[in-house]
Amino acid sequence: MAFQFSQAGLDDLNGYLKHCPKKEAGLLYALHLVQQQAGYVPDEAVDVVGKLLEVSRSHIEGVLTFYTMYFRKPMGRNVVTVCSTISCALNGALDTVGEFEKQLEIETGETTPDGQFSLLKVECLGACDKAPVVMVNDQKFDGVKREKVKELIHVCRKRAGANGSARA
Ligand code: FES
Repeated sequence: MAFQFSQAGLDDLNGYLKHCPKKEAGLLYALHLVQQQAGYVPDEAVDVVGKLLEVSRSHIEGVLTFYTMYFRKPMGRNVVTVCSTISCALNGALDTVGEFEKQLEIETGETTPDGQFSLLKVECLGACDKAPVVMVNDQKFDGVKREKVKELIHVCRKRAGANGSARA
């Protein structure tokens, strides 16, 4: 189905663009709004944003490839991102990832069949002194060693059950 901004999203974007020297400066925000509305950035949305902001598709694809916060396919309710850059790697991040894979029974990059969890490895999250660092949607968790993974998954499942919300 073709992507179309909701009226609220369009109003939000237009309000943001009023403060931008050039339309292109609103690109990251526009992509954020797309993801907020659709849960990811579908191909059709790239064309919509490109037309609105007068930016080429290749430029937008470059931005989407660079920033790990944008998803190109539907994701689970809880998007778990594990930093695997040097500080986190030295402090056990790979064991943490492995434990998530084991507990969730998926590989990195996959989503659980019930749509509850997607698992990703990302570059430095900027909290290297708290390694290994994990994000679940917008929430950061410090020092997530392998032993803490099961409990973290449990907390996420409980929270989803309690409020039924789309994201933590
Ligand atoms: S290396 Fe993991 S937060 Fe920086």
